Amino acid sequence: MLEHSLPTLPMWRVDHIEPSPEMLALVEEGPIHRVRFPSGHEGWWVTGYDEAKAVLSDGAFRPAGIPPTAFTPDSVMLGSPGWLVSHEGDEHSRLRAIIGPAFSDFRTDLLAQQVESIAEQLFATLSIQPQPADLRKYLSFPLPAMVISALMGVRYEDHTFFAELSDEVMTHQHETGPRSASRLAWEELRVYIRDRMREKRRDPGDNLLTDLLLAVEQGKASEEEAIGLAAGMLVAGHESTAAQIECGLLAMFRHPEQRERLIADPSLLDKAVEEILRMYPPGAGWDGIMRYPRCDVTIAGVHIPAESKVLVGLPATSFDLRHFDNPEVFDIAREGNPHLAFSYGPHYCIGGALARLELKAVFGSIFQRFPGLRLAVKPEELELRKEIITGGFEEMPVLW
Ligand code: HEM
Repeated sequence: MLEHSLPTLPMWRVDHIEPSPEMLALVEEGPIHRVRFPSGHEGWWVTGYDEAKAVLSDGAFRPAGIPPTAFTPDSVMLGSPGWLVSHEGDEHSRLRAIIGPAFSDFRTDLLAQQVESIAEQLFATLSIQPQPADLRKYLSFPLPAMVISALMGVRYEDHTFFAELSDEVMTHQHETGPRSASRLAWEELRVYIRDRMREKRRDPGDNLLTDLLLAVEQGKASEEEAIGLAAGMLVAGHESTAAQIECGLLAMFRHPEQRERLIADPSLLDKAVEEILRMYPPGAGWDGIMRYPRCDVTIAGVHIPAESKVLVGLPATSFDLRHFDNPEVFDIAREGNPHLAFSYGPHYCIGGALARLELKAVFGSIFQRFPGLRLAVKPEELELRKEIITGGFEEMPVLW
């Protein structure tokens, strides 16, 4: 194939919500595609479910945060010590083990009650706003920020401050975008974390910052790594969940019969959340996570040379007919839904259980609390946050 005739990586959503026919056609064509990325680089786009798992669990592939020198990383925080997707092998396992206890069943159970009451509190505030009200401002942005404050052990009042910084860190991440504002925000976030972590010497507790301080004192991590771990957690835990709440709501607005089904049978909640994660994951534009083979590899008979750019199209894998029956149907009662929304392999999302708790707190009661909840604009009028990896919307005006 001539170089210039390579297909450009397709946008995977149209009208902000439905999977694009162009993406679905390519998924049907085969599991691995040679494409040109929006940056102009050539590489591979993996859309097959098994092939994606093979890439994500193969040690020959470097994670997203360790790109070959030819590529600029997608984010200013990639490459910083402690940011987990910038570490691999034993070093990654050592760092991941430090934050593991924060996600133990015990702490997650404790957080579950707090998540419910935070959601209730936010619903109450939303209900007294003049209509239309911005659902991002009153729910999808503050909910994960408040939950992450509880997990980290930072002052609840700080959530606006660090949520805005984490927002800035994740903005302008594309290879062509301006980055200085994100760099400054990343530095500010690190200073904030360092100060809060040091405070835990005087005022420890059952929280992630205390775990991190102990890890530093016991020589399990450097202070820089601990700060990176905590800052990465604020960023990863906040933006993706906010965007997922918005995409999930849009999915429910788009499929009123599924929303009615959930209201009539609340026992479908767990499955509904999985179906939202499968079919309407967060993300703007061209979705997926990067990997870079350190040596030549062959996946599903396709030869991929060392140091190439390989985008694992997690959203695309949800449409692989070998694993999902009628994948284009949004079915909140879908049986067996092994989607890869939280990735797979060593970098599998550590906050998956917490994200599910937050999504259940929203979708388990928002339609009962606001029976007439609807968008105040057409879905296509919502402004997608294109400059942020995780997507979501600038605002989401609703009526009820
Ligand atoms: C719906 C919400 C969420 C989605 C869709 C999501 C998705 C993902 C995905 C796809 C990855 C893998 C990245 C890769 O393999 O390169 C990941 C990693 C990660 N996520 Fe999440 N995430 C969500 C919520 C959270 C939350 C709530 C937290 C923490 C409180 C969190 C913390 C992390 C961390 C620390 C990593 C890096 C893990 C590692 O490299 O070992 N995420 N997430």
